[in-house]
Amino acid sequence: MTKRIRKAVFPVAGLGTRFLPATKSVPKEMLTIVDRPVLQHVVDEAKEAGIEHFIFVTGRGKQVIEDHFDMSYELEDTLQKRGKKKEYDALMADLPAAGATSFTRQQAPLGLGHAVWCARDIVGDEPFAVMLPDMVTKATGKLKSRCLSQCVAAYEKHGGNIIAVEEVAPEETHQYGVVSIGKDEGHTFEITGMVEKPPKGTAPSTSIISGRYILGPEIFKILETQERGAGGEIQLTDGMKTLAKSQGFHGVRFDGVTYDTGAKIGFLMANAAFALDNPDLAEAYKAGLKKLMG
Ligand code: G1P
Repeated sequence: MTKRIRKAVFPVAGLGTRFLPATKSVPKEMLTIVDRPVLQHVVDEAKEAGIEHFIFVTGRGKQVIEDHFDMSYELEDTLQKRGKKKEYDALMADLPAAGATSFTRQQAPLGLGHAVWCARDIVGDEPFAVMLPDMVTKATGKLKSRCLSQCVAAYEKHGGNIIAVEEVAPEETHQYGVVSIGKDEGHTFEITGMVEKPPKGTAPSTSIISGRYILGPEIFKILETQERGAGGEIQLTDGMKTLAKSQGFHGVRFDGVTYDTGAKIGFLMANAAFALDNPDLAEAYKAGLKKLMG
């Protein structure tokens, strides 16, 4: 019997240097895809997968993230008094339950492994999810669920640890964590090895770690003493590699689409995809695009 995955960790301390100057005073996770912050889309995915507690590992200058997941009394009161029911209901629908969020700070940008380790006391002794907020997913495939739901289903089947993967071109593998593939069942497969940012031409496959994980709490003990790896950072991938010596890891090939909103092109494509999905916008947006492209 596997334990239920109740908690998700969102490492949101990143500086967002790829989006400067937009991210000088606005956290990159708060940039909008249509009318919702990037991070809200990721939290929606977590909710869909049954997550009940949302743990944000933040950093300096990220206070508005905390405000976003809190009540905004003055705003809500004004919306109600003005009869703006639709807007009010939308805010209420996104508001997490009281006590369902936790915030801790990664004091220095020491890497993803260090960020996840900062959540150790809040997660406690149970398996949990990690969701990288740059990655926004859409359920466009046959399974009709987003990435974390598919990871939870794989966890319920295989137990152990789960990593969502996707395919990239061979010349792009050096920018990511890459896994080695063992016994392959198609949608899921055994992971037999992993490497963070392998030098060009050395990656064991083109399946990259794409930003959704389910991990056992034993990872924390490992991360506590994890030495710096690729890029001089404490890497989650290196910690997982050690954990894989004593626990199973399975990969999930996400049936759907992922947008890397940390990159400008991914961010723009995510906006286009979500706008085209929005019944209030789709027609006007399509017409506008058509005009723009001659
Ligand atoms: C992180 C992970 C890497 C993963 C990537 C996905 O890297 O360390 O394994 O493939 O996210 O975006 P980063 O993007 O922080 O360099």
